[in-house]
Amino acid sequence: MPMRKIAVVNMKGGVGKTTTAVHVAAGLAARGQRVLLIDADPQGNIGHTFRLRQPLTIEHLLTGDAPVEAVIVRGVREGMDAIPSTPAAFSLERRLAGETQRETILARRLRNLTGYDAVVIDSSPAMNLLTYNALLYAEELIVPVGMDLMAIIGARQTLNGVAEVKDLWPDRRLDLLAVLPTFTSATNNATKAALEALEQDPQMGPYLCLPGIRQCIDLNYATSQRQTVWEYAPRSRAAEDYTRLVDFVIRQEQAGAHVIQEKAKTAV
Ligand SMILES: Nc1ncnc2c1ncn2[C@@H]1O[C@H](COP(=O)(O)OP(=O)(O)OP(=O)(O)O)[C@@H](O)[C@H]1O
Ligand SMILES: [Mg+2]
Repeated sequence: MPMRKIAVVNMKGGVGKTTTAVHVAAGLAARGQRVLLIDADPQGNIGHTFRLRQPLTIEHLLTGDAPVEAVIVRGVREGMDAIPSTPAAFSLERRLAGETQRETILARRLRNLTGYDAVVIDSSPAMNLLTYNALLYAEELIVPVGMDLMAIIGARQTLNGVAEVKDLWPDRRLDLLAVLPTFTSATNNATKAALEALEQDPQMGPYLCLPGIRQCIDLNYATSQRQTVWEYAPRSRAAEDYTRLVDFVIRQEQAGAHVIQEKAKTAV
């Protein structure tokens, strides 16, 4: 099967992007896939989550100061490698200002990447150069949406950015894989209102991945222990919800493969 390229995006901050990227990557790796988790956010939260201390980062990859093999941290977990980021990457926008086609640098640097079943990219809460680079490498998108109006607005703005990218590069595959409600609470009116708004949104409604990820404090505790929630609290709600998301991501791959096989059949 071809290597999957999944980016987790939303211009709104604090909606669960990093948590989702970490758990999709770790979840796929736990199912035996070989996964590369890329931090495309200068906040460097992937490095904090897994205590990565390697000096070479996505910044060096994009500036051309280091080849891809040198920026990959191997064996973060069994089956999972990572490319870290640090606040030094905040200056990339300025430093790459003179480069031609600077939105496709990541795609070009990773063109010959092999040995992985999936690449998962965490992105920052902004439509900056790194985010565009993530969008021009990824083929599938997960959009976590917190249960408030600003998060929904952020998701819409993000999808407008995606539409722009598709306009400029119409031949690239870039599909919405899931709109993922996060921080949900069954008893909370804000959750009900946000889910209704998402269901009625013509762009996002069809991709809504229900019931999403419930509010669960174990996710905070897990991060502070530098663990995934399956390691920290395997019986928690969050462990159950992220397991369901990983199942969904795998099912979608199989569904996609099915479509391709069908096409191949009709072509014969
Ligand atoms: N379902 C949840 N329930 C409770 N806490 C959560 C949940 N999901 C994430 N968190 C916590 O909320 C905080 C923000 O999550 P996270 O860092 O994943 O968001 P983000 O979208 O990556 O933020 P940023 O935009 O700053 O990169 C973290 O402390 C995380 O542990
Ligand atoms: Mg984050």
